[in-house]
Formats: sequence, C-alpha cells, structure tokens
Amino acid sequence: MKLVVTPGKPLRGSLTLAGDKSLSHRAALFAAMAQGESVVDNFLVAGVTQVMLEALTSLGISWELEGSRLLVRGKGLSGLKPPQEAIYCGNSASTIRFLAGALAASGVPAVLDGSPGLRRRPMMRIVSPLQAMGTPIRASNGGTAPLTLDARPAYRPLHPLDYAMPVASAQVKTCLLLAALAGEGPTVVCEPEKSRDHSERMLASMGVDIQVEGRRVTLVPPSPQQLNPIHMTLPGDISSAAFLVVAALITPGSRIVLQDVLLNPTRTGLLDALRAMGADIEIQSIRERKGEPVGDICASHSELKGIQVDGPLAVRMIDEFPAFAIAAAFARGRTLVQGAEELRQKESDRIGSLCRELGALGVDIAEAPDGFLIEGISRLRGGQVSPSGDHRLAMALAVGGLAADGLIAVQDAEIIAESFPNFPEALRSLGAEARLEA
Ligand code: S3P
Repeated sequence: MKLVVTPGKPLRGSLTLAGDKSLSHRAALFAAMAQGESVVDNFLVAGVTQVMLEALTSLGISWELEGSRLLVRGKGLSGLKPPQEAIYCGNSASTIRFLAGALAASGVPAVLDGSPGLRRRPMMRIVSPLQAMGTPIRASNGGTAPLTLDARPAYRPLHPLDYAMPVASAQVKTCLLLAALAGEGPTVVCEPEKSRDHSERMLASMGVDIQVEGRRVTLVPPSPQQLNPIHMTLPGDISSAAFLVVAALITPGSRIVLQDVLLNPTRTGLLDALRAMGADIEIQSIRERKGEPVGDICASHSELKGIQVDGPLAVRMIDEFPAFAIAAAFARGRTLVQGAEELRQKESDRIGSLCRELGALGVDIAEAPDGFLIEGISRLRGGQVSPSGDHRLAMALAVGGLAADGLIAVQDAEIIAESFPNFPEALRSLGAEARLEA
C-alpha cells in the first residue's frame, strides 16, 4: 500500500491522539505483573502493542480490550506461566527487552524472537547485565534475537546489580529494573545520559521504592513481593504528535492544537529543538496525570533556521530525528546532528535511511557515523520513497509531502500501523490531502 500526500493544504484544527506507545507497553506488562485487575484507558492499539498483548496471553495472563480501554488481570510477580512456544515480538524492541526482564524476575523459561528487522537489533546490552544478575539467558549469532532464557524459580532471588550502562537506553534500563524486582537487595543502574523515565514513574505509582538521583536509579525489591494495579488514562503519544507538529510548522497557513499530550521532560527534546529553530509552539494547560506531565501543544507555520543537536538533547528526542530532519530540510541554514549513533540501531539504520531517502528528494544531506548535516533548502522534490520497514521514516517522509514541490508517495505504508494506525486519518482531519492506494 502507498500513502500519497499532495502538497499545499494548510493544517488547521485540534486533535486528541491515542495513548503514548512507551506508556502503553509498560502499562500492559506491569499490569500483568501486578496483583489484581488494572484498567488502562486510551491504550494505544497498534502493531507493536498487539505483540505485547499476545505475548501476555501466551504467558497465561488474561486481558480484554474494549475500544481503547485495556483491562488486565494481573497475577503477581511470579504469576507468569511458561509459554508453549517461542514468543513472537514482531518488530517491537520494547516488547522483547521488557519481557526478558519480566521473565527473569518471574523465573520463567522462554524463547523470545521477532521479525527479521528485530533480529538485526543489539541484544547483548540486556543479555550481559541479566547474566550478571544470575539469569541464564543467551542471545543468538553473537548478540541478537532469538533470546533463550533458561530461567527457573530456583535462580531467584537474582543478584543485585550496580551497573553503569554503556548506552543511554530506557529499554535496557526498564529490562534491568523489572529483573531487579526479584533481586535479593537494591539494584542501581546509572546511564551516561538520562533516558525516558516512565518505568521509574509507573513502578513508583505501583508502590515500588525507587529513588532517582539524576542519571542514577536505585530500586529496592518490594517486600512482600507485590505491585499495586494501575488505573490510568494514558496521555497522547508525543512521538506521534511530533509528525503533526512538524507538518504544521512547514505548511504555510497552518495552526493546530494537539490536546492531552504526554509532556514528560525526558521526551520533549524535539519541542525544545524546534523552538530553538524559531518554531511557534505553545504549551497550554500543563497538568499532571499519575506522575506524568500532560498538556496541549499549539503549533503554527513558522520560518525555521538550522541548529546543532548533540548529547543529552539527542537522547531526549531519540525517536524524533526523522520528523526533525524534515523540519531541518525546510529550515534556512545548516542543521548538524552529532552524538546520535544510536539512531543506527532503530527500526532502520535511521542515519543511513534518512540520508538515502531525503537525498533522493533533493535535500542536501551528508552522512556521518554519529549523525548528519542538512543544508536547509526550504523545498523538497516530489517522488516515490521507501521507508525501509521503519514506521517513523514513513510518517516523516509523508509529512515532507505536505510542503514539497510535487506529490510524495510513500511505499509500504502499512508499516505506519506499527505505532500510529490512524495517521492518514489524522492528517485528513486537520485538512491535509493524504490517501492510501493499493
Ligand atoms: C523506548 C525507548 C527507546 C525508543 C523506543 C521506546 C521505551 O529505545 O527508541 O521507541 O519505551 O523505553 P532505546 O531504549 O533503545 O533507546
């Protein structure tokens, strides 16, 4: 299927988005590990969360989805059952990495596998520290999925860990914090830069003793071994909002409001970067929901200028570089991204794929090992582009089409349903011309 975007129409109006992907993954799994029934409203129903829910079924957890309301009957920290077959995690690195930690904590043996795209992604970053905690887990082919856990209740409690993580990664941190729930003492993880902290906030709201001092997190295993259930309405996904914000900024005449969006400061790096580029973005009515900041984002068409991004800001916008690159293409002057080598480990090698596809649309973009340099051109040629199996690349390229010189047709657009199934409808509801073609 192709997503064909026609340039020219301004985006106007307001929209509420489906629940944040990071919160949805955590809510489903943590609820399964809690004691009793959890109810999660505005759950993201999408490809990557579907594989998590199916994994929970194979681990003996019952759940129900009514629209976007998810009900999970949690069975406690040691309530997961060994699955009959290998658990298929699709394209979802969050699913495989979080499950590895949860299964280590529960002492449940399993094989965790996924799509060819997931099998490409690095797993030693969770395997080595889990082994250090005493979990018998191994990767394949020198460090990738499938992962085999020979976990047994007899291996618990796990050794407490004091671990300096080599890369900033919320997936690794979450995996280790979940395993640490079954530690025989407190576990400490320290990141080189602070990544998203949803697990810390959600586990704390479930009654776990977690202390956060900057980049260092200490988890004290609960005693008795119990987590309280979750009752939460999830705020809209800031990483999905990112595409619509950039769409409004680059399309003349646009002004949109995105209501009830997650505004956790570990996730708002793109908004800060865009503001530094001169973007007209206002945040309204900031409030708090179960420990997470939430608010409305108002974005209007803006004249943008190039900036430099590196270090901690890169971590705070790690999923947003495809959208950011589109903004940079329409900005005046140079945009330089450095210190973002982790982008090569995402759903695609996002440095390589962005440079290839934007280059084909006429953008002056140069690849570096840890980032890219864009000379803003304020225009993009139309054409056919390929998202390399990467949902975020597909959406970013489609957004570019709103202000391009001609039609942009994004091939294999079904991949968008991994994280934002109603993206084409969302664009259309704001007045854009975007249609799916066989
Ligand atoms: C996520 C963490 C990030 C991010 C991913 C979701 C999470 O991955 O890219 O989309 O929910 O914890 P890394 O931990 O690999 O940086």
